[in-house]
This record gives sequence, structure tokens and C-alpha cells, in this order.
Amino acid sequence: MAMIFEQESRTFSEYLLVPNLTTKDCVPHRVDLTTAVVRYRKGKEKSRLRINIPLVSAIMQAVSDDGMAIALARSGGLSFIFASQPIASQVEMVRRVKKYKAGFVTSDANVMQDATLSDVLAVKARTGHSTIAVTSDGTATGRLLGIVTSRDYRISRTQLETPVKSFMTPFDQLVYAREGINLSEANDIIWDHKINQLPIVNDENELVAMVFRKDYDEHKENPYELLDAHKRLTVGAGINTRDYRDRVPALIDAGADILCIDSSDGFSEWQQETLTWIRNQYGDEVMVGAGNVVDAEGFRFLAKAGADFVKVGIGGGSICITREQKGIGCGQASAVMAVAAARDAWFRETGVYIPICSDGGIVYDYHMPLALAMGADFIMLGRYFARFDESPTRRLLVNGTYVKEYWGEGSNRARNWQRYDDGSSAEKDKMTFEEGVDSYVPYAGKLKVNLDVTLTKICSTMCACGSLTIQELQEKARLVVVSSTSIVEGGAHDVIQKESERRP
Ligand code: IMP
Repeated sequence: MAMIFEQESRTFSEYLLVPNLTTKDCVPHRVDLTTAVVRYRKGKEKSRLRINIPLVSAIMQAVSDDGMAIALARSGGLSFIFASQPIASQVEMVRRVKKYKAGFVTSDANVMQDATLSDVLAVKARTGHSTIAVTSDGTATGRLLGIVTSRDYRISRTQLETPVKSFMTPFDQLVYAREGINLSEANDIIWDHKINQLPIVNDENELVAMVFRKDYDEHKENPYELLDAHKRLTVGAGINTRDYRDRVPALIDAGADILCIDSSDGFSEWQQETLTWIRNQYGDEVMVGAGNVVDAEGFRFLAKAGADFVKVGIGGGSICITREQKGIGCGQASAVMAVAAARDAWFRETGVYIPICSDGGIVYDYHMPLALAMGADFIMLGRYFARFDESPTRRLLVNGTYVKEYWGEGSNRARNWQRYDDGSSAEKDKMTFEEGVDSYVPYAGKLKVNLDVTLTKICSTMCACGSLTIQELQEKARLVVVSSTSIVEGGAHDVIQKESERRP
């Protein structure tokens, strides 16, 4: 007869944290949110990769491209760039993150010098930018011949067919700087010369980047920024169990700091084979996570196979219909606690600590400290990040409300068949049924603004539990299962609310 687990599986919303004594030194600004990402001998060495906040963005088309990766690494977290795209384009995204320098932007509004005012207006309309570089070949890296801004022409007086070269500020009259200058030096030049933008060129006078006065405040140093040993932003990338022999070397060559096998079910020989191949090729040099699993057996299988971290969660994602379609999965809170217990047992047996990542199912901010208290070392989020300006999807106005598009990797829209590949089909790109939906999420603005609030809440909860670090929270936390009526009691009740609002 089938084995039946004695306890039912539960979700985050079924638990609350019971406060511990908050000592006077336990205040939010003293909380340390750094956490280990990859396996290490706890007590003897430090993890080779630690992140400054315990949040990573999901390996999804609608969430993690280079734009998200830059924004999140600048705030101390880590993105895993989605794998359901050709190797070349994923590699290009990784390269863009590694090349990123705060405040130095690649010029995306460029024309050739025989362009006309009408071309300039078209570029302006397409990009939304009024500063346009005039380059030898009309690209962002051509030889810089001049700059056009809206001060150089009067739409009411200048003929549309007027050539750019007759009204641009030519190169010999431009204030520019050479490649190698740092941001604060570039800003000094902008202020000293009272200009709005500074082109950066190389020794051949080819355009390298632009620095804009308007970005000044935004690009001041960020204390949590997650940097590699060469002071470049840190970035992760998803891989699959099909084309890893080609994808992994390309991503490593592009500078990816860490990889993660992206699959809905990680308890499989496909994952074992992928991990073994990576270990044979690169030894321990390449850091790679695996998953997803929901129990001790799954964890031990991937730990033995060489995973650097293990991702936990099946069926809890907001866009996920795996449980409905296939009847597999487990309540996310129970899964995290079961895998955390297995991780601790593994540490006791081997001295090696393998961090675990709770993936999916975070609805409210308070679910995050709950996941950490239950044993997660860090948390992967899709819906949460999809709502921000920095996610790659379109912002739309639907029924008077701004929304962002958000679709599952198992939806027909993403067609990420490798993620759901059960090895049964020789036919590539085959997805017989969907395991994810195509949806909208409420638009929420800038990542940093929202993240700051979320992190403040996490720190505040940790202080209520008398903890200044994630490890302390895990050791001290006391959790209680709540009844459905006490969940009702937890929201505003028995009052007439002035306005109905959902608090994220
Ligand atoms: P969320 O944060 O609740 O939106 O969950 C995001 C997580 O859902 C991802 O990190 C994946 O593990 C998982 N996921 C992504 N796409 C799908 C899908 O189409 N079906 C099932 N799970 C998905």
C-alpha cells in the first residue's frame, strides 16, 4: 500500500511567529540579512558566495533578464537569468550585467550623420530619449561625430529634411571624457561644465557610454551592492538538463557567477547527470544549485549528486497549476521545514552545510521572515519581482489599473518544455499540457522603493523574535499553527474600513 505521510502539509499563511524577548540592542538597523548561498564547512570556512539580502529572483522569462539582475544585485540580492531562451541571448544578458557600471549607460538613441531632423524625431519617439548620439555607423559603439539634444533644433522653424550634421554639436566642440574615468569624476565634469550629459569615448573616439546628470542621485553608491572580486555585479543563470554541455561553458565564459538547474521536479536522474557532468568538467569551481524538491529524500539525492544549494517547492508558485494538473507537490511551509531538517541532519553527518532556497508561494511580505524562520537560507520570488519597473514585461492599463504581465514557465506562452521534460519524448519543444498560467500582477513601481519597505518589515519581525541574524532567527523562532478563525482575526475586522486596500 502507498505510504501516507502522517501530517498534512501546510502553507505559510497557516503559521505565525510568537515573539521572543526583544533586547534593547535588537533594533532593525542592526539586523544583518546576509546569508550563504553555496555549500561550505560551517564553523571552518565561509561560503564562497554570500548575498547581502536573502532574496533572489525567479528563473523566469517574465522576471529575470539583465535589467532585473542589475537592479537586484545593486540592492544586494541575486537574479538567475532565465534559461528558456537561446544560449546566445542568455549569454548576452549575462555579459551585459557583468559589463554594467553604475551611471554609465549604453547609448540607445543613435543616428548617422546623414540622418535628418525627421529621423531624429523618429528615434526620440521610439526611445523616449532626447539626447541622441551621432556616430559613424549609427550604432552605440561607432565613432562619435556629435550629439543632438532638443536644444539644437526648433520643430516650428527647422525643416524636417535638414541634415543632422548642420545642427548637431560636433565632436570638436563637445565636452567628453575618456574610457576609464570613474563615476564621481564624470559627475564632476558634468557639474563643472554645466552640461546635462557626458559622452565617454575610447582612444579611437568610439562611443563607450553616456553619463547623464539626471541619473546622479540614483547612482550614488549602494552599500548593499553585490559585487564579485573584480567589483562587477554578481549574476546567476538558469540551466536545463538537456543542453547543459553547450549552455554551461557559454555561461561560465560570459562571467556567470553561479548556475541553477531550472526544473519543476529535481528528484531525477537528469539532474544527477547534469551535476555529475559539471563536477567532471569543472570540479568545485563552478557553483550550481539544483531542485526543486519537497522532502528529505529529494534533498539527500541532490546533496549526494553535488548540488551547491537545493531549491525547495513544487506547486506553490502563484502562476503554477502543477498540483491541479499532475497532483504532485506539497504545502510550501511543510516542504521548507522538512528539507531544512534534512539539511541540518546532513550537516551533522558530514560537516557540510548546504543552503536551501524556498522557491515560490510568497504572497505577503510577512511570509518571508516565516520562510527564513522555518529554515530557508534564502528565498526565490517570481510574482513579487514581476510587479516592478525592472521586470522585462510590458506595463499595461487594464480596467483602469496598471498591471504588469506575468506568465509561468510552464504556460504555452513561455513554452519552457525543458523545465517540465520527463524524458519521455524524443520530440523537442513538446508540451502536451500546461503547468502554468499567463496572468497580470498589479504594477508596483520601482524595485528599490518596494524592496526597502519589505526589508524593513523583515528586520522588524526578526527583532520581535529577538534575532539579529538569519541563523539566530532559525535557532530561536517559535512558530504556531493558526486556526482559520484566528486568521480572520489577524486582518482588520468588525470595523467599517475607509478604503479597501490589499497590503502586499
Ligand atoms: P511565485 O513567486 O509564487 O510567483 O513563484 C515563482 C516560482 O514558481 C518560480 O521560481 C518557479 O519555481 C515556479 N514556476 C514558474 N513558472 C511556473 C509554471 O509555469 N508552473 C509551475 N511553477 C512555475
